[in-house]
Amino acid sequence: MQINIAKKSQAKEQDVTDEGIYRERRSILKKMGFVGASALLAGPAQADLFDIFSNKEETKFKVEPLKFKADKQTGTIKLTPEEKATHHNNFYEFGTKKSDPAENAQNFKVNPWQLRVEGAVDKPLTLDYDDLLKSLPLEERITRLRCVEAWSMVIPWIGFPLAALLNKAGVGSKGKFVKFTTLKSPTQMPGQANRFKGGGIDYPYVEGLRIDEAMHPLTMLAVGMYGKTLPPQNGAPIRLVVPWKYGFKWIKSIVKIELTERQPINSWNQLLPNEYGFYANVNPEVDHPRWSQASERLITSGGLLSRNRIPTLPFNGYGEEVAGMYKGLDLRKNF
Ligand code: MTE
Repeated sequence: MQINIAKKSQAKEQDVTDEGIYRERRSILKKMGFVGASALLAGPAQADLFDIFSNKEETKFKVEPLKFKADKQTGTIKLTPEEKATHHNNFYEFGTKKSDPAENAQNFKVNPWQLRVEGAVDKPLTLDYDDLLKSLPLEERITRLRCVEAWSMVIPWIGFPLAALLNKAGVGSKGKFVKFTTLKSPTQMPGQANRFKGGGIDYPYVEGLRIDEAMHPLTMLAVGMYGKTLPPQNGAPIRLVVPWKYGFKWIKSIVKIELTERQPINSWNQLLPNEYGFYANVNPEVDHPRWSQASERLITSGGLLSRNRIPTLPFNGYGEEVAGMYKGLDLRKNF
């Protein structure tokens, strides 16, 4: 995974701006013209300025509004602006730069889609695109996303508990782990067609959880964010949300969920076993071999001169709910 070295462009806590104000400010800046605006805005927003003269919107992937039970925290928590959450991405199938997924994934086809639930289940299931959005009640959950590269965001996800889907399929006693696989489609995903463009990962991207982690109420399959279906760069049509684990566990564009007896080998662990483990629980006390995990850069709407470094919390702040699952496990060895 590429290193995200702290830069002068980090946002200050006081610079956190709610999305409405952020959008309004951007439209004023647009009206001001390029010079002043581009000096004030960060990379992805700069790119947007040029949209005034392009008809990019026409070819853009269409997201759709969703019906869901809103998170009670809505309005009380400062969210990462949607623009940032959808333009600063890791989705190596579409390239390794943070801006690549938003640029390269707009023609990604998510409908028709098939998600298979199989392996050690009583009743294997296949869900099509409509099933993903309609077969289980959707709820919104605002969670932190902490990337192993030491940046973080606060995002309102929409989806359902993974346990609800696994219970539909029937979890037998043989299923000790859950293996997740992303779509393999080298014609659509340039990173899969060219090993260099895809960061050296042996695709398809694979992730895994222990069965108790998978059944934990905080573990969610997300089909939307910010009130709408997921854009492709964020893992449309369905991706994993495991709030207490580093972002690389949050596998995107899933086509297969398989209950297994043996611990699956996840993609990043396979590529760099000394740097990325299976557990990947957020842990400020266990540094990455190449950088500290003690703090993180909270991505906000801050501009070039702002900075927002906050301390990283054990289990990303969800310790009360999840620490019990790891009693007796050496979290330094099982990183
Ligand atoms: N899933 C797939 N299939 N491919 C990827 O490259 N990157 C992971 C994760 N899921 C990745 C993936 C990493 S490293 C992170 S930090 C999160 O997605 C980023 O999610 P976001 O782009 O929605 O912020």
